[in-house]
Amino acid sequence: MNDKEIVAQAALEYVKNNTIIGLGTGSTANYFIEGLAKKIKNENLHIKVVASSTISQINAIQAGLTYVSLDQIEAIDLYVDGADEILLSAGIEVLKGRGYDLIREKLLASASKQCIIIGDNSKIVTKIGDNFPIPIETSPIAWKITQKIIEEFSINCNLRKNTAGDGFAISSYGNFVLDCNFKYSDISSLSKQLSEVPGVLEHGVFLNIAHLSLIANNGEVETYKST
Ligand code: 5RP
Repeated sequence: MNDKEIVAQAALEYVKNNTIIGLGTGSTANYFIEGLAKKIKNENLHIKVVASSTISQINAIQAGLTYVSLDQIEAIDLYVDGADEILLSAGIEVLKGRGYDLIREKLLASASKQCIIIGDNSKIVTKIGDNFPIPIETSPIAWKITQKIIEEFSINCNLRKNTAGDGFAISSYGNFVLDCNFKYSDISSLSKQLSEVPGVLEHGVFLNIAHLSLIANNGEVETYKST
């Protein structure tokens, strides 16, 4: 098992019977989805799931999980997702969004009674934005004006291309993603500033949302609690 799979297995320990579980997006979250399907079958659990992206929704249904529509739930018992960057500060700072669906990911994470962010050691950073730009979900009609405004306080801000590079990345809700780099001193102020820009539907900085972070390093999993 690689570290992504090991940390996903560790997150399965937090799954309880008769609950609604939110599923994240990405390769680490996919290991959790696979493991959850096996656990439900082996232990005859009654669990419903909701997903943070169309791709995870499809993966969950294909794995045989009982899927509920996002618009039918008010709260989630447990949300488990990967991340692009994790800063193990008091409030656990997280950067997400290589998978485009920022509205959906932050909505589920915020609605969860317990939010667990899982990752291998490569995700640990000393400053959010060290390894990746901050992604911003914006609508196709707003992107240009939103980009122009963000350019006033960013180093750069680019419309994300799709994986093939011949078109633009589109979220589950038909939105575009801007990838922006910033020089900043306080991530909380930057997060608030971004949220206030007209046209920003959601951005990838998750502050004070994760209750726990599980980090796998060479097969060993460490647990970090938000304080
Ligand atoms: C999707 C995300 C993912 O959780 C993040 O990109 C990590 O992916 P992986 O588990 O494949 O490394 O934020 O929007």
